[in-house]
Amino acid sequence: KLYDIGLVGLSVMGRSLALNMADHGFRVAGYNRSPEVTDRVLREHPHENLSGFYSLEALVSALERPRKVFLMIQAGPAVDAVLEQLLPLLERGDVVMDGGNSYFEDTNRRAETLAEAGIHYFGVGVSGGEEGARRGPSVMPGGPREAYGAVRPILEAVAARAEDDKPCCAYIGPGGAGHYVKMVHNGIEYADMQLIAEAYLLLKYAGGFTNRELAETFAAWDRGELHSYLIGITADIFTRQDDLATGDLIDHILDSAGQKGTGRWTSIESLRQGVDVSMITAACSARVMSNHLERRARAGGRIAAVPVTGVDNKSAFAETVRQALYTGKIIAYAQGFSLLADASGRFGWGLNLGEIASIFRAGCIIQAAFLGDITAAYRADPALESLLLAPFFLDRVNERQEHLRRAAAAAVLGGIPAPALTNAAAYLDGFRARACGANLIQAQRDCFGAHTYERADRPGSFHYDWRKTP
Ligand code: 6PG
Repeated sequence: KLYDIGLVGLSVMGRSLALNMADHGFRVAGYNRSPEVTDRVLREHPHENLSGFYSLEALVSALERPRKVFLMIQAGPAVDAVLEQLLPLLERGDVVMDGGNSYFEDTNRRAETLAEAGIHYFGVGVSGGEEGARRGPSVMPGGPREAYGAVRPILEAVAARAEDDKPCCAYIGPGGAGHYVKMVHNGIEYADMQLIAEAYLLLKYAGGFTNRELAETFAAWDRGELHSYLIGITADIFTRQDDLATGDLIDHILDSAGQKGTGRWTSIESLRQGVDVSMITAACSARVMSNHLERRARAGGRIAAVPVTGVDNKSAFAETVRQALYTGKIIAYAQGFSLLADASGRFGWGLNLGEIASIFRAGCIIQAAFLGDITAAYRADPALESLLLAPFFLDRVNERQEHLRRAAAAAVLGGIPAPALTNAAAYLDGFRARACGANLIQAQRDCFGAHTYERADRPGSFHYDWRKTP
């Protein structure tokens, strides 16, 4: 009997996804470049619907036609290398899916190359980490729509289910659209995590909260409108004792953050497209700044510290931070979704932003109650210019922006780095600004480079003779 799908790459994510598919009754043929990995998976996770293969040739010839091959390998050159090996083994009508965090332009390029051979190529965003892959991730497939029907049953079966039991998987658009959406998901993830980290710093260093109080505070937040996967794991993190030394684990973890690239791509892409995602960029920069541990230690002794004044009422302060976090979150998501909206028009993808928000409701890292509100906002007005202008969010921003400003100000005055909160406030002010100071910038450009300027009172392009005596 032939297999329904081939899974190439059996390390943590690939293995979890293979088992997830197998659980749903699909017969999965697994392959890993190192045979020991395949053997270990079969030994440690035996499943009646999962078999191991030791060459791509054997894997491909064991598949039902049209063949479906799912790659779960490291993004980058490894994907091209496997595709090169696979291509001669496949035939017209077969489907290849790449579930890694590939750069969307690589996916565009690969899709074109494979289309020449009549092979359908999907760049599939998969979010949710190991647990998500095993029990139900959020799935963002992009590729040729006419071939989607062939892979839809498998992708929808393995995906997480939202509250209304809908699968967190939807066809995103052609070419690299799925990977683009996953990239922006990760950019939003960066901003969201940075906001939470800033709330932690404020509560700890301005508010004097202990780890135990932090755990209780985040747990309480998780029971309200901030309910989300990230807030939930944060509450849990503050409860964990270290295994290797005395004290809480959080206090033993080096204060230096890693990044694999997708957040940075979002930021670079936003600059290219001319869309402001300053909170995502700030989150990337904050990770970079965190890495300079020695420089921070040296400069800490030289750049004078600002005395932190502390707070009178801890619970009122926590409430301000909570509201600031919520408001900042609205702004971060507004930025991310603006980038998606721009990409949709620019690349002709026809993205359905409401549906994208709806598949983020469960399974993925940014899953949150909040995503249901974003879905509703786009359902009510699919042409929404910005989430900030949706009535639901507009009301909340207007009610709470004072808390955002207070929290950002407390950070600035207390010498606590809070680039996401401060950029959130700056974005809000830029977004609604009557005056941006750009008139002065235009005058400067015209003065030093004769770049010309436009006028507010009449049409046309003007140049002033700046050399003349005023
Ligand atoms: C997800 C995550 C996942 C992964 C990222 C984290 O949606 O499941 O985003 O893709 O954890 O690689 O990225 P950094 O290593 O850049 O933080």
